[in-house]
Amino acid sequence: MKIVTFYFVILKEDLMVSTATKVGNFTFDNCLMNAAGVYCMTKEELAEVEASAAGSFVTKTGTLEARPGNPEPRYVNVPLGSINSMGLPNNGFEYYLDYVIELQNQPNTKNHFLSVVGLSPEETHTILKKVQKSDYEGLVELNLSCPNVPGKPQIAYDFETTTDILTEVFSYFTKPLGVKLPPYFDIVHFDQAAAVFNQFPLVFVNCVNSIGNGLYIEDESVVIKPKNGFGGIGGDYIKPTALANVHAFYQRLKPEIQIIGTGGVKSGRDAFEHILCGASMVQVGTALQKEGVTIFDRITKELKEIMAKKGYETLEDFRGKLHYIDR
Ligand code: SIN
Repeated sequence: MKIVTFYFVILKEDLMVSTATKVGNFTFDNCLMNAAGVYCMTKEELAEVEASAAGSFVTKTGTLEARPGNPEPRYVNVPLGSINSMGLPNNGFEYYLDYVIELQNQPNTKNHFLSVVGLSPEETHTILKKVQKSDYEGLVELNLSCPNVPGKPQIAYDFETTTDILTEVFSYFTKPLGVKLPPYFDIVHFDQAAAVFNQFPLVFVNCVNSIGNGLYIEDESVVIKPKNGFGGIGGDYIKPTALANVHAFYQRLKPEIQIIGTGGVKSGRDAFEHILCGASMVQVGTALQKEGVTIFDRITKELKEIMAKKGYETLEDFRGKLHYIDR
């Protein structure tokens, strides 16, 4: 029998602190989950996240066919984060689709996110049409932001292609869909990207994927093999960029589009900051890879302690309420 854990604590006086959240019509007992790429390649890894204190999981981004990805070494933890050029290794989207359908039919299951992308717009449509026809009733994340497939630029940096893909997708796709975004670095790009996403019935945007194409050097050498060492940067390095993207989109997107915050989360304080910037759900990537699934217990406890100290009982009490300096 599955034990369902409800994440609330009674800390001081009568304060009931809960990290429960909602994305679209889906409820989650906890706002923390894995980021796509970490603990999600196989059913066994996904089952570990499912059994942990995380409120949900997202699958590894599935492509039309299974892919071995780039040659190793392709992921390296470094003191302030990580660098990777995985190249979308995955078991094919149907492997992940079958698993989320299998789980959705079980009692007391969590709600899940299925991550997908094609290597071309045609492949993306083939995948999404199959998901549309399937029995899957959960959330779908279209990954517009993988920086690591040689010869394939990050889709979401090309606003015209992004608009074309989403226009076509929403001509046939009626299930709840969000997009995983790369970080943007310019206020004009926040404005332009938000103007694109606001045209569509997206349920969420997920900010951010790794900062693409960094270089990490030890002695005189790069540390990963693909692309002569260029790879996506995660961890501490990217938290300020991630927070800026979460908040920029929180300020610009229509209220129906919620934000998932990803980037540099390794403590309750980091999760708190993402929510303060506007995140409804918070994903853990590099730190989960380093610490394992027990990290969800620790971050949840730390987040609740911060909330209790500040007198917040729910995420709504502080979501998006970042203070500015007005003088
Ligand atoms: C990868 O598989 O290269 C990472 C996936 C991503 O960044 O979207």
